[in-house]
Amino acid sequence: MAHALGTFVALALAFTVVWATDSSPLQDFCVADMSGQVLVNGFTCKNPDSVQASDFHFSGMHVIGNTSNAMGSSVTPAFVFQISGLNTLGISLARLDFAPWGLIPPHTHPRATEILTVLEGQIEVGFVTSNPGNRHISKVLKKGDVFVFPVNLVHYQRNVGNTNAAAVVALSSQNPGVIAIGSAIFGSTPDISTDVLAKAFQVSNNVISDLQLKF
Ligand SMILES: *[C@@H]1O[C@H](CO)[C@@H](O)[C@H](O)[C@H]1NC(C)=O
Repeated sequence: MAHALGTFVALALAFTVVWATDSSPLQDFCVADMSGQVLVNGFTCKNPDSVQASDFHFSGMHVIGNTSNAMGSSVTPAFVFQISGLNTLGISLARLDFAPWGLIPPHTHPRATEILTVLEGQIEVGFVTSNPGNRHISKVLKKGDVFVFPVNLVHYQRNVGNTNAAAVVALSSQNPGVIAIGSAIFGSTPDISTDVLAKAFQVSNNVISDLQLKF
C-alpha cells in the first residue's frame, strides 16, 4: 500500500513537471551570448547592461523569399539565431513563401507547436496524428485563415493556386528544429542501410536507392 502510494506520488510529481515548450525565463530577458563557450540548454546570457534594441530586432519579413528550388518554397526564419533576444523566451516566427503549387514537404518540429496565418493565396495544410490512428487532418486555407500544427506531428503546406502564396508562422520555441521526413530517412549521413529501408517500406532495393539518390 505504502509502495503504491509512493508510486502514485512519484507519478503525480513526474506529470506536474512537464513543459510543452522552452522553460519559463527567470529574469526579464537573457539575450543570447552567441560567442559564449559554455554550453547550456539554450545560450548563456549577455550582460543585461550591454543589451541593445538590435538584440530584439529583425528586419526583412516583408521580403518575398526565393522559391526557385525543386520544392518551389522558401522559409525565412526569425529564430534565436536571427534574434538573440529570443533566447529562453519559447517563441519564434517565420515567413513561408510558395511559388504556384510550391510545397513545404512533410516535416516535424521536435520542440514546437506551430500556428500559421495565410497572407496571400490558397494553401493546403495537413498533419497526421500519431499511431495507431494516423488520422490525416487537412484543410485548404485562404487569406486570413489560421491553422495550428500540434507539437511534434508530421505536417506539410502546399500552395494550391496558380499565383504565389505566403504565410507567417509562429512557433512555441526559440529554436523549433525541423526533421524533414524525406531527408531524415533517405538522406542521412551515413545512409541507413538500403535493406533496412526496403524492408521497412516493403519495396525493392532499387526503389530505395533511387530515393537515396534524390536526397
Ligand atoms: C534564387 O535561388 C536560385 C537557386 O539557388 C539562384 O540561382 C538565384 O540566383 C536566386 N535568385 C535570387 C534573386 O537571389
